[in-house]
Formats: sequence, structure tokens, C-alpha cells
Amino acid sequence: MNFQWYPGHMTKAIRMMQENIKLVDMIIELTDARIPLSGRNPDIDELGKGKARLVLLNKTDMADPRVTKEWIEYFEAQGASVIDINSKQNKDIKKVKEKIVEACAERIERDRKRGIKNRPIRAMVAGIPNVGKSTFINHLTGKTAAKTGNKPGVTKGKQWISLGNNMQLLDTPGILWPKFEDQTVGLHLALIGSMNDENLDTAELAIELIKFLEVSYRGIIEEKYSIEEGTIDSIIDEYGYPRGTAYLAAIAESRKCLVAGGNPDFQRAAGLVLDDFRNGRLGRISLERPEN
Ligand code: G4P
Repeated sequence: MNFQWYPGHMTKAIRMMQENIKLVDMIIELTDARIPLSGRNPDIDELGKGKARLVLLNKTDMADPRVTKEWIEYFEAQGASVIDINSKQNKDIKKVKEKIVEACAERIERDRKRGIKNRPIRAMVAGIPNVGKSTFINHLTGKTAAKTGNKPGVTKGKQWISLGNNMQLLDTPGILWPKFEDQTVGLHLALIGSMNDENLDTAELAIELIKFLEVSYRGIIEEKYSIEEGTIDSIIDEYGYPRGTAYLAAIAESRKCLVAGGNPDFQRAAGLVLDDFRNGRLGRISLERPEN
């Protein structure tokens, strides 16, 4: 499968990001806990050179907690401040604010040595589309956060939202595009639903997911769709389908996704599996693990 990304205003977004980075002390980089590497653009390391960084593994409510723990160790081993969160819940916000201070400790100490008092820590949020930037900003700032520039008569410009404790957040996040260094990046983004399904072969995508689950989360498909032991092998024997297709046939049978004549509706079955995965109905699953 060939994955492509059609960034509308990528150059403009990167230029904006470069300008905004100059104004901040730190970057709060969001990535998806299920695909921490495919869900980020490594160019941010170069763009954000010299700035403090906090990596947020977002959507942890859908990721495998054991794997998330491995990712935290991975990022920490690289010297990054990192925290796992669920942006849809407020309970993580206090921890995030503490981590922001921790990530900026060097800057705060430098100011202190120079006798600079109460200079606010300025931060910006960055990440690829759909990673949860707006959701996170809304929760971090509280929905009622004042955006001074929205008031009539206030000069337009950069808008800073106060987070308390002498911290300020740029209200517009920096948008980065994923980097398609190999097809796995595209596949992972497509699986979590960050690419437009219209341009993708849903059945092929679902089969890739099934193949992965068979290896890394054995038995999960059988359990979810009540597929009895031996069913897949007997479908293969009877129809000669490849293994992934046999799984789709079994799911179609189990969920009554059938076309005229009682044959399996592979497309519908594929859509069902992808939908269940993306909505967390297959359980908490991570597609990427750090390499040992
Ligand atoms: P963006 O600004 O980076 O483009 O992302 P945005 O905040 O719009 O979030 C994209 C989708 O991800 C939203 O779902 C949002 O609710 C969801 N999301 C963000 N953070 C989390 C999280 O920690 N856990 C989970 N489970 N979902 C998260 P949507 O389907 O586009 O909208 P809706 O379902 O909220 O209506």
C-alpha cells in the first residue's frame, strides 16, 4: 500500500513554527502513545534546538500501559522530560504543570543566577494533525481561559494564555507533518485513523492490523468476534484464502456482514475491525514498541 500525505500549507506552517519557536523557552511536543515514533516529526529536534522540551505521550487511554511505560523509559534515556496523559481528562494537568517546571529547571536556574526574577516561562504546544493539540490546550488552560486578542480593540498579535505559577502558553499550536521515512509510518498513521480512509484500501489496512494483532496481541480478535479455535484454519483449507483474508471472512460471518448469496462482505468486516480498534473496543493496543 502506498501512503501519502497531502499537506495543504506545510511550508507556511513550518515557517510559522520557526517564528514562534523563537518566542518560547520550551516546546511541549505531543505524540500518540500508540505510535510514539510515527506520530512525531523528528525535524522538531533540529527546529527546537536549545529549547527545553517536554514530550507528552497522549491518548494513553487507548495505548497498552506496559508499552507506554517502555516508551517513557526510552525517552527518558534520551534525556527528555516525558509524561503520559489522556488529554480528555483533567486529572493529568497538575502533573503536566509540574513537568513543565521540571523541564525548564535549567532556564529558571540561569535566570536566578543572573538575578532575573519572575520572568515567565513561555511554552508552545506542537505536534502532527489529530494528535490532540487543541484538546490538550483546552484542558491545560481551562475552557474559560482569556484570549486577550479576541476582545474588540485589542491589538492582534501573539496571544499568551497564563497557566499560573508564572507560566504562559502560546494559544496557537505548532503544526508538524509526519515524516514518511518508511511505509510503516504511513501504515501506523492510517491504522489509528490519522489519514483519510477514502484514499486507502480498507481491507488491506484491516489485514495489516490483524497480522500485527496475531503476533503481538494473540487471541484478541478471536475473543472479540467469538471466533472458535480452528475456524481460521478450516476457512483457509476450504477456500484457499490467505490468512488475513480468512480472518476477515470469519469476522464477517460472526457479525453477519454478508453480501447476496451469503458470501462475506470483506469491506464491511474490514471497516468494523478498524473502527473497533480506533475506538478502543479491541482493548488498549500499542502499535509501536521501542527497539531493544
Ligand atoms: P489536533 O488539535 O492535534 O488536530 O487534535 P484534536 O485536539 O482536535 O484531537 C483529535 C481527536 O483526538 C479528537 O477526537 C479528540 O477528542 C481526540 N483526543 C485528543 N486527546 C485524546 C486522548 O487523550 N484520548 C482520546 N481517547 N482521544 C483524544 P475527534 O474524534 O476528532 O473528536 P471528538 O471525539 O472529541 O468529538
